[in-house]
Amino acid sequence: MNRRQFLASVSATAILPLRGLAAAAPFTLRAEPVTRQILPEGEGSTAMLGFNGSMPGPEIRVKRGARTTVEVENGLDEGTAVHWHGIRLENRMDGVPMMTQDLINPGDNKTYSFVPPDAGTYWYHSHYISQEQVARGMMGPLIVEDDLPPDVDHDITVLLSDWIIAEDGSLIDEFSDMHSVAHAGYMGNFARGFLSQDAVKNADRVRLRMINAATNRIFSLAVTGVTGSVVALDGMALETPRSLADLVLAPAQRADLIVDITGPVGFDMQSRQGSYRLAELAISGTNTDRIPKPIAPLVAPNLPTPGDPSQHLTLTMMGGAMGGRHGGANIWSFNNISDLHDDPFGAFERGETVRITLANDTAFPHGIHLHGHHFYEVAPDGSLGDLRDTSLVAAGESRDVICVFDNPGRWLIHCHMLSHAVGGMRTWVKVS
Ligand code: C2O
Ligand code: CU
Repeated sequence: MNRRQFLASVSATAILPLRGLAAAAPFTLRAEPVTRQILPEGEGSTAMLGFNGSMPGPEIRVKRGARTTVEVENGLDEGTAVHWHGIRLENRMDGVPMMTQDLINPGDNKTYSFVPPDAGTYWYHSHYISQEQVARGMMGPLIVEDDLPPDVDHDITVLLSDWIIAEDGSLIDEFSDMHSVAHAGYMGNFARGFLSQDAVKNADRVRLRMINAATNRIFSLAVTGVTGSVVALDGMALETPRSLADLVLAPAQRADLIVDITGPVGFDMQSRQGSYRLAELAISGTNTDRIPKPIAPLVAPNLPTPGDPSQHLTLTMMGGAMGGRHGGANIWSFNNISDLHDDPFGAFERGETVRITLANDTAFPHGIHLHGHHFYEVAPDGSLGDLRDTSLVAAGESRDVICVFDNPGRWLIHCHMLSHAVGGMRTWVKVS
Protein backbone atom coordinates (compact mmCIF):
# COMPACT_ATOMS: atom_id res chain seq x y z
CA MET A 1 0.00 0.00 0.00
CA ASN A 2 1.50 3.36 -0.91
CA ARG A 3 1.15 6.48 1.17
CA ARG A 4 -1.82 7.83 -0.78
CA GLN A 5 -3.85 4.64 -0.48
CA PHE A 6 -2.93 4.52 3.16
CA LEU A 7 -4.27 8.01 3.85
CA ALA A 8 -7.40 7.19 1.89
CA SER A 9 -8.08 4.12 4.02
CA VAL A 10 -7.63 6.04 7.25
CA SER A 11 -10.23 8.64 6.30
CA ALA A 12 -12.55 5.89 5.11
CA THR A 13 -12.51 4.17 8.48
CA ALA A 14 -12.82 7.47 10.32
CA ILE A 15 -16.40 7.98 9.14
CA LEU A 16 -17.57 4.53 10.26
CA PRO A 17 -19.62 4.61 13.45
CA LEU A 18 -17.96 2.86 16.40
CA ARG A 19 -19.60 -0.38 17.38
CA GLY A 20 -18.89 -3.24 19.76
CA LEU A 21 -15.69 -3.58 21.75
CA ALA A 22 -13.78 -0.34 21.85
CA ALA A 23 -10.77 -0.55 19.58
CA ALA A 24 -7.51 0.87 20.82
CA ALA A 25 -6.27 3.99 19.03
CA PRO A 26 -4.09 2.91 16.11
CA PHE A 27 -0.41 2.52 16.76
CA THR A 28 2.19 3.68 14.29
CA LEU A 29 5.47 1.86 13.95
CA ARG A 30 7.95 3.58 11.72
CA ALA A 31 10.83 1.31 10.81
CA GLU A 32 13.95 3.45 10.65
CA PRO A 33 17.65 3.59 11.44
CA VAL A 34 18.41 4.45 15.08
CA THR A 35 21.53 5.01 17.15
CA ARG A 36 21.75 3.26 20.48
CA GLN A 37 24.21 3.17 23.35
CA ILE A 38 24.73 -0.56 23.74
CA LEU A 39 28.32 -0.36 24.98
CA PRO A 40 28.79 1.31 28.39
CA GLU A 41 28.23 5.09 28.54
CA GLY A 42 31.22 6.99 27.14
CA GLU A 43 32.09 4.29 24.64
CA GLY A 44 31.00 4.23 21.02
CA SER A 45 27.34 4.16 20.12
CA THR A 46 25.82 1.66 17.72
CA ALA A 47 23.98 2.31 14.47
CA MET A 48 21.01 -0.06 14.40
CA LEU A 49 17.49 -0.37 13.05
CA GLY A 50 14.43 0.19 15.19
CA PHE A 51 10.95 1.64 15.34
CA ASN A 52 9.91 5.23 16.14
CA GLY A 53 13.49 6.16 16.93
CA SER A 54 13.96 3.46 19.53
CA MET A 55 15.45 0.01 19.78
CA PRO A 56 13.77 -2.13 20.99
CA GLY A 57 10.66 -0.69 19.39
CA PRO A 58 7.97 0.84 21.61
CA GLU A 59 5.86 -1.49 23.71
CA ILE A 60 2.46 -2.09 22.18
CA ARG A 61 -0.07 -2.73 24.92
CA VAL A 62 -3.62 -3.72 24.11
CA LYS A 63 -6.61 -5.36 25.74
CA ARG A 64 -7.54 -8.92 25.01
CA GLY A 65 -10.36 -9.00 22.49
CA ALA A 66 -9.93 -5.39 21.38
CA ARG A 67 -9.31 -4.61 17.72
CA THR A 68 -5.65 -3.63 17.39
CA THR A 69 -4.46 -1.58 14.46
CA VAL A 70 -0.81 -0.95 13.76
CA GLU A 71 0.31 1.16 10.84
CA VAL A 72 3.81 0.16 9.81
CA GLU A 73 5.71 2.77 7.82
CA ASN A 74 8.89 1.71 6.12
CA GLY A 75 11.56 4.36 6.61
CA LEU A 76 14.36 1.96 5.66
CA ASP A 77 16.14 1.73 2.35
CA GLU A 78 15.09 -1.92 2.01
CA GLY A 79 11.82 -3.81 2.24
CA THR A 80 10.32 -5.13 5.46
CA ALA A 81 7.29 -6.81 7.03
CA VAL A 82 6.24 -7.16 10.66
CA HIS A 83 5.18 -10.42 12.32
CA TRP A 84 3.14 -10.45 15.55
CA HIS A 85 4.79 -13.40 17.19
CA GLY A 86 2.48 -15.76 19.08
CA ILE A 87 -0.79 -13.98 18.33
CA ARG A 88 -3.48 -16.26 16.93
CA LEU A 89 -4.50 -13.80 14.26
CA GLU A 90 -5.96 -13.82 10.78
CA ASN A 91 -3.54 -15.32 8.28
CA ARG A 92 -3.35 -12.23 6.08
CA MET A 93 -2.10 -10.19 9.07
CA ASP A 94 0.72 -12.62 9.89
CA GLY A 95 3.45 -10.50 8.32
CA VAL A 96 5.21 -13.13 6.22
CA PRO A 97 6.36 -11.61 2.92
CA MET A 98 5.78 -13.71 -0.19
CA MET A 99 3.33 -15.88 1.75
CA THR A 100 0.73 -13.70 3.48
CA GLN A 101 1.56 -10.26 2.07
CA ASP A 102 3.77 -8.30 -0.30
CA LEU A 103 6.89 -6.72 1.06
CA ILE A 104 6.43 -3.20 2.43
CA ASN A 105 8.76 -1.30 0.12
CA PRO A 106 10.83 1.68 1.26
CA GLY A 107 8.54 4.67 1.71
CA ASP A 108 5.39 2.52 1.75
CA ASN A 109 3.00 1.65 4.58
CA LYS A 110 0.92 -1.27 5.62
CA THR A 111 -1.90 -1.35 8.14
CA TYR A 112 -2.08 -4.50 10.24
CA SER A 113 -5.27 -5.13 12.16
CA PHE A 114 -6.15 -8.02 14.44
CA VAL A 115 -8.09 -8.97 17.55
CA PRO A 116 -5.79 -10.72 20.02
CA PRO A 117 -7.78 -13.63 21.48
CA ASP A 118 -5.39 -14.43 24.34
CA ALA A 119 -3.90 -12.31 27.09
CA GLY A 120 -0.16 -12.63 27.57
CA THR A 121 3.35 -11.60 26.60
CA TYR A 122 4.06 -11.51 22.88
CA TRP A 123 6.42 -9.59 20.66
CA TYR A 124 6.69 -8.21 17.19
CA HIS A 125 9.63 -8.42 14.85
CA SER A 126 10.65 -8.05 11.24
CA HIS A 127 9.97 -11.15 9.18
CA TYR A 128 12.05 -10.11 6.18
CA ILE A 129 15.73 -11.07 6.02
CA SER A 130 14.97 -11.45 9.69
CA GLN A 131 18.33 -12.97 10.65
CA GLU A 132 19.63 -9.51 9.82
CA GLN A 133 16.75 -7.08 10.47
CA VAL A 134 15.95 -8.58 13.88
CA ALA A 135 19.64 -8.71 14.80
CA ARG A 136 19.91 -5.03 13.85
CA GLY A 137 17.07 -4.26 16.27
CA MET A 138 13.71 -4.53 14.54
CA MET A 139 11.66 -5.94 17.38
CA GLY A 140 9.62 -4.88 20.38
CA PRO A 141 7.18 -6.12 23.04
CA LEU A 142 3.52 -6.73 22.34
CA ILE A 143 1.54 -7.06 25.55
CA VAL A 144 -2.06 -8.25 25.65
CA GLU A 145 -3.58 -7.31 28.98
CA ASP A 146 -5.59 -9.76 31.04
CA ASP A 147 -9.29 -9.18 31.68
CA LEU A 148 -8.49 -9.76 35.35
CA PRO A 149 -4.89 -8.65 35.88
CA PRO A 150 -2.99 -10.21 38.79
CA ASP A 151 -2.49 -8.18 41.94
CA VAL A 152 0.95 -6.65 41.36
CA ASP A 153 2.53 -3.26 41.98
CA HIS A 154 4.36 -3.14 38.67
CA ASP A 155 4.22 -4.87 35.32
CA ILE A 156 7.69 -4.75 33.77
CA THR A 157 8.88 -5.99 30.41
CA VAL A 158 12.40 -7.41 30.13
CA LEU A 159 13.48 -7.86 26.53
CA LEU A 160 16.76 -9.70 25.96
CA SER A 161 19.02 -9.68 22.94
CA ASP A 162 22.64 -9.91 21.85
CA TRP A 163 24.85 -8.49 19.09
CA ILE A 164 28.36 -8.70 17.72
CA ILE A 165 29.72 -5.23 18.40
CA ALA A 166 33.20 -3.91 17.60
CA GLU A 167 35.19 -1.86 20.10
CA ASP A 168 34.14 1.39 18.40
CA GLY A 169 30.49 0.44 18.89
CA SER A 170 29.72 -0.56 15.31
CA LEU A 171 27.54 -3.56 14.67
CA ILE A 172 29.54 -6.20 12.81
CA ASP A 173 27.75 -7.50 9.73
CA GLU A 174 28.10 -11.23 10.28
CA PHE A 175 24.36 -11.82 10.24
CA SER A 176 24.49 -14.30 7.40
CA ASP A 177 27.98 -15.66 8.02
CA MET A 178 27.93 -19.20 6.65
CA HIS A 179 30.02 -20.66 9.43
CA SER A 180 27.62 -19.49 12.09
CA VAL A 181 24.59 -20.47 9.97
CA ALA A 182 26.01 -24.00 9.86
CA HIS A 183 26.63 -24.04 13.62
CA ALA A 184 24.84 -22.45 16.56
CA GLY A 185 24.06 -19.26 14.58
CA TYR A 186 24.97 -15.57 14.91
CA MET A 187 25.92 -15.20 18.56
CA GLY A 188 26.68 -11.81 20.09
CA ASN A 189 29.69 -10.77 22.12
CA PHE A 190 27.33 -8.37 23.94
CA ALA A 191 24.04 -9.32 25.49
CA ARG A 192 21.63 -7.01 27.28
CA GLY A 193 18.21 -6.77 28.78
CA PHE A 194 16.00 -3.72 28.23
CA LEU A 195 13.56 -2.94 31.05
CA SER A 196 10.38 -0.90 30.70
CA GLN A 197 11.07 0.56 34.16
CA ASP A 198 14.30 0.81 36.14
CA ALA A 199 13.39 0.87 39.85
CA VAL A 200 10.97 -0.78 42.28
CA LYS A 201 10.47 -0.78 46.04
CA ASN A 202 11.53 -3.49 48.39
CA ALA A 203 8.60 -5.85 49.11
CA ASP A 204 6.84 -4.84 45.88
CA ARG A 205 5.12 -7.63 44.02
CA VAL A 206 6.11 -7.39 40.35
CA ARG A 207 5.17 -9.11 37.15
CA LEU A 208 8.22 -9.58 34.93
CA ARG A 209 7.58 -10.29 31.28
CA MET A 210 10.75 -11.82 29.89
CA ILE A 211 11.15 -11.97 26.12
CA ASN A 212 14.08 -13.57 24.32
CA ALA A 213 14.42 -11.41 21.22
CA ALA A 214 17.92 -12.66 20.36
CA THR A 215 18.25 -14.20 16.93
CA ASN A 216 20.05 -17.37 18.06
CA ARG A 217 21.08 -17.34 21.69
CA ILE A 218 19.37 -19.58 24.25
CA PHE A 219 19.33 -17.70 27.55
CA SER A 220 19.76 -19.63 30.77
CA LEU A 221 18.57 -17.11 33.32
CA ALA A 222 18.83 -16.45 37.01
CA VAL A 223 16.98 -13.56 38.62
CA THR A 224 18.50 -12.40 41.90
CA GLY A 225 16.85 -10.27 44.58
CA VAL A 226 13.45 -11.91 44.19
CA THR A 227 11.36 -14.85 45.34
CA GLY A 228 8.49 -15.98 43.20
CA SER A 229 7.25 -18.18 40.37
CA VAL A 230 6.93 -18.57 36.65
CA VAL A 231 3.25 -18.03 35.86
CA ALA A 232 3.15 -18.16 32.04
CA LEU A 233 5.18 -19.46 29.11
CA ASP A 234 4.92 -18.07 25.58
CA GLY A 235 2.03 -15.93 26.77
CA MET A 236 -0.04 -18.83 28.09
CA ALA A 237 -0.84 -19.05 31.81
CA LEU A 238 0.44 -22.14 33.61
CA GLU A 239 -2.13 -24.08 35.58
CA THR A 240 0.26 -24.18 38.50
CA PRO A 241 2.96 -21.54 39.00
CA ARG A 242 6.42 -23.05 38.73
CA SER A 243 9.83 -22.56 40.34
CA LEU A 244 12.18 -19.90 39.00
CA ALA A 245 15.06 -22.39 38.92
CA ASP A 246 16.33 -23.52 35.51
CA LEU A 247 14.65 -20.73 33.59
CA VAL A 248 15.65 -21.26 29.96
CA LEU A 249 14.40 -19.18 27.05
CA ALA A 250 15.07 -20.22 23.47
CA PRO A 251 14.94 -17.45 20.87
CA ALA A 252 11.36 -16.05 20.68
CA GLN A 253 10.24 -17.77 23.88
CA ARG A 254 8.72 -15.76 26.73
CA ALA A 255 8.22 -16.36 30.42
CA ASP A 256 6.08 -14.33 32.80
CA LEU A 257 7.22 -14.24 36.40
CA ILE A 258 5.47 -12.93 39.47
CA VAL A 259 8.01 -12.09 42.12
CA ASP A 260 8.36 -10.37 45.47
CA ILE A 261 11.31 -7.99 45.66
CA THR A 262 13.83 -8.82 48.38
CA GLY A 263 16.73 -6.64 47.21
CA PRO A 264 18.33 -5.11 44.11
CA VAL A 265 17.25 -7.23 41.17
CA GLY A 266 19.75 -8.70 38.74
CA PHE A 267 18.97 -10.53 35.52
CA ASP A 268 21.89 -12.85 34.93
CA MET A 269 22.72 -15.06 32.02
CA GLN A 270 24.32 -18.30 33.13
CA SER A 271 26.97 -19.85 30.92
CA ARG A 272 29.95 -22.13 31.18
CA GLN A 273 32.08 -18.99 31.54
CA GLY A 274 30.04 -17.94 34.55
CA SER A 275 27.37 -15.39 35.19
CA TYR A 276 26.84 -12.31 32.99
CA ARG A 277 24.62 -9.45 34.05
CA LEU A 278 22.04 -8.47 31.44
CA ALA A 279 20.03 -5.89 33.36
CA GLU A 280 19.27 -4.53 36.81
CA LEU A 281 16.32 -3.10 38.67
CA ALA A 282 17.27 -0.66 41.40
CA ILE A 283 15.52 -0.34 44.75
CA SER A 284 14.04 2.95 45.91
CA GLY A 285 12.25 2.68 49.23
CA THR A 286 10.10 -0.02 50.76
CA ASN A 287 6.52 -0.96 50.11
CA THR A 288 4.92 -1.19 53.55
CA ASP A 289 1.37 -1.78 52.30
CA ARG A 290 1.78 -5.12 50.67
CA ILE A 291 0.44 -8.05 52.63
CA PRO A 292 2.31 -11.24 51.74
CA LYS A 293 0.14 -13.89 50.13
CA PRO A 294 0.73 -16.83 47.79
CA ILE A 295 1.11 -16.26 44.07
CA ALA A 296 -2.09 -17.26 42.30
CA PRO A 297 -2.17 -18.67 38.76
CA LEU A 298 -3.14 -16.26 35.97
CA VAL A 299 -6.51 -16.66 34.28
CA ALA A 300 -6.39 -19.90 32.25
CA PRO A 301 -6.15 -19.50 28.47
CA ASN A 302 -9.21 -20.34 26.42
CA LEU A 303 -7.98 -22.57 23.59
CA PRO A 304 -9.76 -25.38 21.76
CA THR A 305 -9.49 -28.74 23.52
CA PRO A 306 -7.51 -31.28 21.49
CA GLY A 307 -9.42 -34.30 20.20
CA ASP A 308 -7.87 -37.60 19.22
CA PRO A 309 -5.13 -36.81 16.71
CA SER A 310 -6.23 -37.66 13.18
CA GLN A 311 -2.66 -37.53 11.87
CA HIS A 312 0.74 -38.19 13.37
CA LEU A 313 3.51 -36.49 11.42
CA THR A 314 7.24 -36.36 12.02
CA LEU A 315 9.26 -33.22 11.43
CA THR A 316 12.93 -34.12 11.52
CA MET A 317 15.54 -31.38 11.83
CA MET A 318 18.42 -32.36 9.57
CA GLY A 319 21.24 -31.02 7.48
CA GLY A 320 20.15 -29.77 4.05
CA ALA A 321 20.17 -31.87 0.94
CA MET A 322 17.55 -31.10 -1.72
CA GLY A 323 17.92 -27.46 -2.67
CA GLY A 324 15.06 -25.11 -1.89
CA ARG A 325 13.29 -23.27 -4.66
CA HIS A 326 13.38 -19.91 -2.98
CA GLY A 327 17.07 -19.34 -2.58
CA GLY A 328 18.55 -19.60 0.90
CA ALA A 329 21.59 -21.48 1.94
CA ASN A 330 20.16 -25.03 2.19
CA ILE A 331 22.45 -25.96 5.04
CA TRP A 332 19.51 -27.15 7.14
CA SER A 333 16.29 -28.94 6.36
CA PHE A 334 13.15 -30.49 7.74
CA ASN A 335 12.74 -34.07 6.49
CA ASN A 336 15.53 -33.54 3.98
CA ILE A 337 13.79 -30.60 2.31
CA SER A 338 15.43 -27.21 2.65
CA ASP A 339 13.37 -24.06 2.58
CA LEU A 340 9.83 -23.50 1.35
CA HIS A 341 8.35 -25.67 -1.38
CA ASP A 342 4.98 -25.58 -3.09
CA ASP A 343 3.78 -28.58 -1.11
CA PRO A 344 3.12 -27.99 2.56
CA PHE A 345 4.57 -30.21 5.26
CA GLY A 346 1.01 -30.86 6.41
CA ALA A 347 -2.49 -30.14 5.12
CA PHE A 348 -5.24 -30.04 7.70
CA GLU A 349 -8.96 -29.50 7.86
CA ARG A 350 -9.91 -26.64 10.10
CA GLY A 351 -10.24 -27.91 13.68
CA GLU A 352 -8.20 -31.08 13.11
CA THR A 353 -6.05 -32.26 16.02
CA VAL A 354 -2.59 -33.37 14.86
CA ARG A 355 0.31 -34.93 16.69
CA ILE A 356 3.76 -33.94 15.44
CA THR A 357 7.04 -35.49 16.53
CA LEU A 358 9.76 -32.84 16.46
CA ALA A 359 12.88 -34.94 16.00
CA ASN A 360 16.26 -33.27 16.23
CA ASP A 361 18.73 -35.24 14.16
CA THR A 362 21.47 -32.60 14.36
CA ALA A 363 24.26 -31.63 16.74
CA PHE A 364 22.58 -28.32 17.75
CA PRO A 365 19.48 -27.37 19.69
CA HIS A 366 16.60 -25.87 17.69
CA GLY A 367 13.64 -23.77 18.79
CA ILE A 368 10.75 -24.69 16.52
CA HIS A 369 8.05 -22.06 16.03
CA LEU A 370 4.59 -22.53 14.50
CA HIS A 371 2.76 -19.44 13.29
CA GLY A 372 -0.88 -18.67 14.07
CA HIS A 373 -1.40 -21.34 16.75
CA HIS A 374 -0.28 -22.52 20.13
CA PHE A 375 0.38 -26.22 20.66
CA TYR A 376 0.77 -28.50 23.65
CA GLU A 377 4.14 -30.04 24.35
CA VAL A 378 3.48 -33.67 25.27
CA ALA A 379 4.91 -34.28 28.74
CA PRO A 380 7.18 -37.28 29.43
CA ASP A 381 4.24 -39.15 31.02
CA GLY A 382 2.22 -38.67 27.82
CA SER A 383 -0.11 -36.03 29.20
CA LEU A 384 -0.67 -32.59 27.67
CA GLY A 385 2.09 -30.34 28.95
CA ASP A 386 2.82 -26.66 28.39
CA LEU A 387 1.09 -24.59 25.73
CA ARG A 388 3.74 -22.95 23.59
CA ASP A 389 4.33 -21.35 20.23
CA THR A 390 8.05 -22.19 20.19
CA SER A 391 9.47 -25.49 21.42
CA LEU A 392 13.13 -26.03 22.25
CA VAL A 393 14.42 -29.43 21.19
CA ALA A 394 17.92 -30.38 22.33
CA ALA A 395 20.47 -31.96 20.00
CA GLY A 396 19.66 -35.61 19.34
CA GLU A 397 16.33 -35.45 21.18
CA SER A 398 12.73 -35.39 20.12
CA ARG A 399 9.48 -34.01 21.48
CA ASP A 400 5.89 -34.64 20.53
CA VAL A 401 3.50 -31.75 20.28
CA ILE A 402 -0.26 -31.73 19.83
CA CYS A 403 -1.98 -28.91 18.00
CA VAL A 404 -5.56 -28.12 17.11
CA PHE A 405 -5.17 -26.49 13.70
CA ASP A 406 -8.19 -24.22 13.91
CA ASN A 407 -6.84 -21.14 12.17
CA PRO A 408 -7.27 -21.25 8.39
CA GLY A 409 -4.42 -20.18 6.18
CA ARG A 410 -0.84 -20.90 5.29
CA TRP A 411 1.38 -20.92 8.36
CA LEU A 412 5.13 -21.16 8.66
CA ILE A 413 6.97 -23.64 10.85
CA HIS A 414 10.59 -22.70 11.26
CA CYS A 415 13.53 -22.77 13.58
CA HIS A 416 13.59 -19.48 15.49
CA MET A 417 17.34 -19.60 15.56
CA LEU A 418 17.08 -17.20 12.66
CA SER A 419 20.44 -18.27 11.22
CA HIS A 420 19.02 -21.77 10.90
CA ALA A 421 15.81 -20.48 9.33
CA VAL A 422 17.75 -18.63 6.64
CA GLY A 423 19.88 -21.76 6.30
CA GLY A 424 16.76 -23.63 5.15
CA MET A 425 15.08 -24.91 8.31
CA ARG A 426 11.59 -23.75 7.46
CA THR A 427 8.44 -25.22 6.03
CA TRP A 428 4.72 -24.52 6.13
CA VAL A 429 1.36 -26.06 6.80
CA LYS A 430 -2.00 -25.44 5.21
CA VAL A 431 -5.23 -25.25 7.21
CA SER A 432 -8.39 -25.14 5.13
CU1 C2O B 1 8.88 -14.98 15.56
CU2 C2O B 1 8.31 -16.72 11.93
O1 C2O B 1 8.61 -15.84 13.70
CU1 CU C 1 17.73 -24.22 14.64
